[in-house]
Amino acid sequence: MEHCDIKNVLAGAFTGKAVTVCGWVRTARDSKNMLFIEINDGTSLKHLQLVIDKDGLPDAALCAKLGCSVTARGDAVAARDGQGVELNVRELTLIGDCPPEYPLQKKRHTLEFLRAMPHLRLRSNTFNAVFRLRSALSAAIHGFFQENGFLYVHTPLITGSDCEGAGEMFRVTTHPFSHGFETQAAYDAADFFGQSAGLSVSGQLEGETAAMAFGKIYTFGPSFRAENSNTPRHLAEYWHVEPELAFADLNDVLRLAENMMTAVLKTVIAKCPDELAFFEKHFESGLAQKLERVSGGGFAVLDYTEAVKILTASGRAFRYPAAWGSDLQTEHERYITEEYAKKPVFVINYPKAVKSFYMKQNADGRTVAAGDLLVPGVGEIIGGSEREADYGKLVSALKERGMNESDYAGYLDLRRYGTAPHGGFGLGLERLLMYLSGVANIRDVTLFPRAAGQLI
Ligand code: 4AD
Repeated sequence: MEHCDIKNVLAGAFTGKAVTVCGWVRTARDSKNMLFIEINDGTSLKHLQLVIDKDGLPDAALCAKLGCSVTARGDAVAARDGQGVELNVRELTLIGDCPPEYPLQKKRHTLEFLRAMPHLRLRSNTFNAVFRLRSALSAAIHGFFQENGFLYVHTPLITGSDCEGAGEMFRVTTHPFSHGFETQAAYDAADFFGQSAGLSVSGQLEGETAAMAFGKIYTFGPSFRAENSNTPRHLAEYWHVEPELAFADLNDVLRLAENMMTAVLKTVIAKCPDELAFFEKHFESGLAQKLERVSGGGFAVLDYTEAVKILTASGRAFRYPAAWGSDLQTEHERYITEEYAKKPVFVINYPKAVKSFYMKQNADGRTVAAGDLLVPGVGEIIGGSEREADYGKLVSALKERGMNESDYAGYLDLRRYGTAPHGGFGLGLERLLMYLSGVANIRDVTLFPRAAGQLI
């Protein structure tokens, strides 16, 4: 169907000319002789107002039902209220009718109400803004890495190793139900891959092999976590950005993370003014100022040991009191970033027992060169580290955790053949989106959120 994007019509590209548009009806207002219908075709956050003289188009009321799809031809003119462009309609055709039981009748529905209909909620303003921002953010991330010489690699989604070692892998199997196997090993051996397989929790281990050949790489794809935590920050399937950098230590990794964040923020501020204004109005007042400030960089860096001292000295009655040796809880992360630093903060050098086997062991023998980025309102959005580049130390870390050395033969080879200091991080796309929009629940920045007990 030949038609123009509403975005271009609103931008004035056709003002004074005849133009054809298509879209879905978002609002309809009837006055004595005139009908005003706002339509949206998904190319912009703003709607286009169709101005219809009822005498000239007596059937126009058929197109005034919320949710129906229409096509209109008319003259694009400066809007009567002095704001933007509207269309004086000469022809109006109903494409797809929409009955009155269409659920999105009200101007604003609660996010909880909309969550029950992921296939329809995208037609509301909030989700229009969220997914425009998500698209621009994804492009900005690719742009940053491409402009800085990182190779984009696609790591496998089906894997035999649990990168984070946290036992949160979904199994991948083609086995039908059977009582015919006496042991797990026999069951796995007869399965599709001849061993147990799962959905990847992270592309890091494969990303490291690419970094040891290409120097600077990144992956950007889905990761899967079978964690049964029904929180506003966890999904079973999320999008994961994972750069890996050769000839780099923890400081280089932190610098890369901060540079990526500030560059991406600047791009999004420039590309999404309407969307950010929408979020400022409806989700987080002060958002624009926050993003402007954070895009200037200057993130804090705090040693884990120092963080525990600050938490202990805070006098706060945390649900889980902070103690050296335990991982930071969300309540701790939020205190550190929201009340102590009041800006994004990297917490570094965690106890080795709470982190993964692959992290570089520090000289103190107790901590590893990890660096997590915490931000106000969300908590952790980036988890990263320098990797252990020493063959012997890596083997010890595997053994200490009771992990099977032979499962990591290829990974260990990277430390045998031309090892080099290297590191990287993982950014959760949805968590960054929450931070950029002020949307508080991760399910509301995801097209079809997957979580325990939820697969619609
Ligand atoms: O801290 P994580 O587990 O780190 C890794 O997976 C490393 N292998 C990354 C690397 O160094 N290449 O996860 C990284 C980020 C978290 O900071 C968080 O933003 C996001 O992934 N994340 C989740 N996002 C949504 N739902 C979940 N269940 C998530 N688990 C982690």
